[in-house]
Amino acid sequence: MNQLPRVVYQVYPKSFMDTNGDGIGDLNGVISKLDYLAELSVDTIWLSPIFASPMVDNGYDISDYCAVSPEFGTMDDLDRLIAEAKKRNMGILLDLVLNHTSDRHEWFKEAMRDPKSPYRDYYIFRKGIDGGPPNNWRSNFGGSAWERDEVTGEYYLHIFAKEQPDLNWENPAMRRELFDMIRGYLEKGVSGFRIDAISGIKKRQDFPSLPPDAPDGLANGESCWTVYPGIEAFLSEMRDSVFKPYGAYTVAEAAGVDYERLPEFIGENGYFSAVFDFSYTDIDLENGLWYTSRRVEPKQLRESVFASQKAVCAAGCGAVYLENHDQNRSCNKYLAPVDSTTAGKAMLGVMYFFLQGSAYIYQGQELGIPNYPWADIAEFDDVATIDQYRRGLSAGLSERAALEAVAHRSRDNARTPMLWDKSECAGFSTGRPWLPVHPDFQSLCAEEQDAQDVSLLRFYRRMSALRQGEYAKLFLTGTLAPRFEEYENIFAYERQLESQRILVVCNWQSTPQTLCLPGGRILLDNLREEEQIGGQTALAPFEALVALLEENL
Ligand code: GLC
Ligand code: CA
Repeated sequence: MNQLPRVVYQVYPKSFMDTNGDGIGDLNGVISKLDYLAELSVDTIWLSPIFASPMVDNGYDISDYCAVSPEFGTMDDLDRLIAEAKKRNMGILLDLVLNHTSDRHEWFKEAMRDPKSPYRDYYIFRKGIDGGPPNNWRSNFGGSAWERDEVTGEYYLHIFAKEQPDLNWENPAMRRELFDMIRGYLEKGVSGFRIDAISGIKKRQDFPSLPPDAPDGLANGESCWTVYPGIEAFLSEMRDSVFKPYGAYTVAEAAGVDYERLPEFIGENGYFSAVFDFSYTDIDLENGLWYTSRRVEPKQLRESVFASQKAVCAAGCGAVYLENHDQNRSCNKYLAPVDSTTAGKAMLGVMYFFLQGSAYIYQGQELGIPNYPWADIAEFDDVATIDQYRRGLSAGLSERAALEAVAHRSRDNARTPMLWDKSECAGFSTGRPWLPVHPDFQSLCAEEQDAQDVSLLRFYRRMSALRQGEYAKLFLTGTLAPRFEEYENIFAYERQLESQRILVVCNWQSTPQTLCLPGGRILLDNLREEEQIGGQTALAPFEALVALLEENL
């Protein structure tokens, strides 16, 4: 495999940088900001989907895998981006959406136009039962997971929106086409892929109805499609025929993979290089429902992160992150509003950044952009948010209550435009941005934070430089041991590789806390000036430090 990435930066192209004034970010915009990313010591860029798409789910509904969406640019722009990134020693990860296509994809159009076409079997069509769908599975975005084809009266399966019909992985010709497409991008020189919703590709083939779990009579169908037995054959085939020959780095969005199975997924001959673990980023969700959220205590988060690390370290290499395009902003999720300061956000950064695995930064996280202050449902774009809002109303919530219920966790919080400078629209666009710009952009933007001596952006640069420096290997693959677990509000761990040992300590509270620390040299601290630690040490509120140990703990 290629070298594992150390610091990956996720770009959500639609919201990153617009260079032609249409209010939508584009590939030329990404190229124009490569130096900004180089200054952040990023070695790998993950681009959320840039392929042709009607954008019902912002590119996660692909209508042509082999074309760049015109609003993002052209294939030449992508080639230029790959080349320009390479000049700066950065690799590109493309986002592969293989569980489904858009209903505007030629395969699906053909499947609908001619039920006898070979493309019909590229998707999952079934006869209905008693005038209704084949079963009572609910889609991830709400409502039945089946949509009726009015011409034949059959139904097709979509575990996401109805405009995202699921591909039939049982069909070898379909798989071959996907694999050829993937090879094409590897030939172009991308270093790998983030792989979308991959745990869903194998479906239970008898498609049974399940006991309803809500008054709508529907049931969460995950037990019939998440990491369903038989998926192993598809994943090994893809690894052996596509990823392995190219040494591609792959990070999978593979919800539902139990920790015991991680070796099979990310071990020596695993299906992927790494998988994202949602346990600690979805920890605030009640019953796993993404429009609910509760405040998480540091201790609870610590337990979850360490459990994840224990399993990941035993199996292979991790992919640690705080935010992505499906999450709300981390300062709103993990910090109380009064604690959402530069120090608090820097501490959150340190907390996850030195864990084992590749460290992912989501655009704007390094600026500490918070959730957007949504005032009206009309401001949202996200299909999932709008669906949840409607469900709220039909469950009897007032408009205000439904808005409140969805606003905090809406995926659009992460999708508002990047904040570059103090000009109108924060320098993101000269036109009208597709989502509103955060009102605090004057103080949060990169230009302002660059001008300050102390800012989150500057701190992230230091964090990332440290990850890339002398101790890079230790951070990537060294062992991890929890420390100071007897303290409720201390999030601390020790990393080790051979004789090198590094201690990470976060004081997760708004008051000081005294710890007895071993002697060592401070490599990074968000608040302290001194260079050495050791002995009784009073940590300031939200202080976070990384130190090279010279003494045993
Ligand atoms: C993944 C993506 C998400 C998308 C979904 C359907 O979860 O991260 O943004 O909506 O898959 O493709
Ligand atoms: Ca544009």
